[in-house]
Parts: sequence; structure tokens; C-alpha cells
Amino acid sequence: MNYEDKLQNVSVLGAAGKMGSGILLLTAIEMADLQLKPENQSKTFALNAIDVSPAALSGLFLYLKAQVRKIAEKKMVALRTVYKDRKDLIENGEIIDQYIDDVLKIVHTSTSIESTYNSGLIFEAIIENSDLKVKLITQILENNNNDPWFFTNTSSVPINELDTKANINGKILGFHFYNPPAVQRLVEIIAWEKTNKDLIEFAQAYAKKLRKTLVPSNDKAGFIGNGHFMRDILFGLKQAESLFDKMSFAEAFYAVNRISQDFMIRPMGIFQLMDYVGQDVCQKIMIVMRPRLNEDSLHSDLIDQLNSQDVKGGQNSDGSQKAGILFYEKGQPTAVYDPNKKDYVKIADFKEKVDNMLGALPSLHKPWKAVVGNKGKDQILSDYFNELKAMDTLGSQLTKDYVINSKNIGLKLVTDGVTEKEDHVNTVMLMGFFHAYGPINNYFN
Ligand SMILES: NC(=O)c1ccc[n+]([C@@H]2O[C@H](COP(=O)([O-])OP(=O)(O)OC[C@H]3O[C@@H](n4cnc5c(N)ncnc54)[C@H](O)[C@@H]3O)[C@@H](O)[C@H]2O)c1
Repeated sequence: MNYEDKLQNVSVLGAAGKMGSGILLLTAIEMADLQLKPENQSKTFALNAIDVSPAALSGLFLYLKAQVRKIAEKKMVALRTVYKDRKDLIENGEIIDQYIDDVLKIVHTSTSIESTYNSGLIFEAIIENSDLKVKLITQILENNNNDPWFFTNTSSVPINELDTKANINGKILGFHFYNPPAVQRLVEIIAWEKTNKDLIEFAQAYAKKLRKTLVPSNDKAGFIGNGHFMRDILFGLKQAESLFDKMSFAEAFYAVNRISQDFMIRPMGIFQLMDYVGQDVCQKIMIVMRPRLNEDSLHSDLIDQLNSQDVKGGQNSDGSQKAGILFYEKGQPTAVYDPNKKDYVKIADFKEKVDNMLGALPSLHKPWKAVVGNKGKDQILSDYFNELKAMDTLGSQLTKDYVINSKNIGLKLVTDGVTEKEDHVNTVMLMGFFHAYGPINNYFN
């Protein structure tokens, strides 16, 4: 079966979710572009958007419409060629509206899994629950006579486990988009020894069309990205706890969030990033990783406590950040949640005191935004960390410990066989987490 045939009938499971909606958008564009080729006029391309939440599905078309409009505006030249025989389409606006119609008419929303039974390709992006993923895949396999292929977006469940438990015989691949899929260029691709070679080839072709960069990860729970991220979180939590003899809970969490953002020149502090991903998502990923990697430390009582108190973070439907361990105003953290008080403590009440305890940033410090796209980034970072290395403040010490630990996590991913290449670890953290430098560096050697 060739590339285009495989994309003629596709389903996205969990299509109304954070990841599913992005995967739906990207796939709808790719399928519409195929449909609009003159030689494909007689074929019908269908993309089933399936989710258990009818309310969420009802908002999906509005989201798609807005996103497709933005995409169409960026590819006007190509669209003029596509619609060159349509003499009725003159203005840019007319072409854009026609393209939106052509993309949307491919998409069919449904709350029923039966809609997947005619698909040749199924993207699975439901919640991170291995048993539920296996159950749905098994049900589809029992009812679908098209020998379907599965792309799972799982953040952590080993592909061989899904493959074996659902008895798919190599027809499933980990195709791990980063959030949000429409923007993030990185996709981690995960195969195991039984993965069908045609499926891998198809995935490479599809990624190329979507202009994604594929980084292969070996099939170990958490893969590269979450393998680093979860352990990085746990270090941040431990570092905050180590400050409790000097600071209150809220002060310590503010301090470590600042270390892991300002001092480390990262786009977000570690606790803000946890809120962005969601405390519930982090908990689910650790629940998958801990027993499968036989690593007891992959667990946090505090994350459990936050979830039990319904302090989860994540995003509102307008994309704004929900309160989690931090409280946000205009996207900026302004308070820290104290689970013992079950209340938020304002950062303004202690900021000056804690900043003084951490000490000044090195004089060569530049914010992440000024460093990340800077051509002279390597020199800037090496000068900055050299200055920091010579300092003797609480802030510089916490930063050194954090950077060294992050490197050790990266090296462990290589020794544990999650990847053979240090480069892959660095690429995932640079592209998937927008870090300005890879964790495996020599700043403190
Ligand atoms: N959020 C992230 O940053 C991120 C990044 C990479 C990968 N992932 C992974 O992607 C997957 C989806 O995560 P998400 O963050 O989009 O979750 P989400 O909660 O936003 O979306 C999941 C969607 O699945 C739907 N769903 C639940 N049960 C279903 C069922 N039985 N049938 C059909 N739909 C069902 C839900 O209604 C929801 O809309 C997970 O495996 C997650 O680990 C998430």
C-alpha cells in the first residue's frame, strides 16, 4: 500500500484533546493537500475525529477553522497553483475560504469508536493509560478488516507492551509529538524489534511532509524526553525540600523555580513547566515509568498530594495557564501553592528576601530569549557559566548542582540504553523543551 492510499481513511482517537486536536489539524492539512491533487479528484479522503467528549468535539471545528486560516495565509502562493483552474476564486480571501472548506469537509467528528473500523491508519492520542489504550486498539483490530496501522502518541508506555498486549504484530509505532503538535518541530519515533518496516518508512515520509524532525528513541518507558523531564522534576522537588531549613515551603519553591529559569537560562522554571504539562499528566507518566524501569525514586508524594487537592495546572480552553503549584496572572507566576495551608502565598510578600538569599545573577547573565536564537550562543553560555562557577552564593551553588544533575540524567539515558547517542538527548531537550543548551555539556567539568 502506498503513502497516499494509507492516508485515504484515517482516524484520530482522542481528537478533542490537547495532542489529538493538533494531530488532527496537521493530518487534515496533509490529507486535504492530497485530495486537491488533480489525479486524486475521484478519490475520497476521510479523517475521523473521535473523542468521548461531545462537548469538546463541538468546539473542534472552530479551532480547526482558525488554524487552517493561519496556515492558508502562509501558503498563498502554493494555494494559487492548487486553485489555478478556479476562475471564480480571485481575491486571497476567496482562496483561503475555499481551502478552509476543502480541509474541513474531510473531517468527520464522532463519539463512536466504530468510525475507526474503515481506517487504514489510526492515531491514538487518548489519556495516558496503558490498559485503556490496549482495550481500544484490541477492539479496533477485532472489527477493522483493513490491516490498520497505529501511531500512538504515548508519552511513556513502551511500544512493545502495547504491541504484545493488543496482539498487533508490529503494526504500531510510537510517534511522540510534542505539545503543541502544530508548532513543535520535534517528534520522537519509537520502534522495537518487531515493528513493521513499511510502517517506519511511512512514518518517515509523513514526518517529512509535515516538516518534523524525527529523533529515534529506544523502547524504554518515558523514552528520551520524559526520561529526562521526570527526573529533572524530581531533582527540582528534592532541591526545594533541601531549602526547608532556611525557607518556608512557598519560598523554597519560588527559589528553585527561579534557579531553574533565570539562573539556568531556561524558558520556564521547572515548577511552571510542571503546571504547563499538568500535575496529573506528570503523575500518570511516573506511574507508567516507575515499575517498568524498576526505579522506585520515580515517584513524588508532593505530586500525589497536589493531585488529591485538585491542584493540577494545565490550560484553560482559551490557552491560558490554569493555577497549579504556581498561580498565574497575565501568564506570570504571582503566588505559590502551599499544600499544608491549602492556599496560595503571594510571591511579592517574600520575593526580595529570597532573591537576596540566592544572591545576584552573574553580571554576564542574559535572559533565555536573548540567548536561544543568538548566533554567539555557545560563547555567551560558556562565559556565563564560567563566571557563575567562580561565584560563592546560594544561587550559584544550586545552579551548579542542577546543571550537573541534568547532565547526569542525560548520561544515564545513554547508559540505560534509551538512546545510543548523547546528541539525541541534547536534540530532544533543545527542540522539544526549547532549552538553550543540551544537558550533556561541559560547563562544570
Ligand atoms: N500534553 C502533553 O504535553 C503531551 C505531550 C506528548 C504526548 N502526550 C500524550 O498524548 C496523549 C494525549 O494527551 P493529552 O495531553 O492530549 O490528553 P488530553 O486529556 O488533553 O486528551 C485526551 C483526550 O482523549 C479523550 N478520550 C479519553 N478516553 C477516550 C476514549 N475511550 N475514546 C476516545 N477518546 C477518549 C478525552 O476526552 C480527551 O479529549 C497521552 O498519551 C499523553 O501522554 C501528551
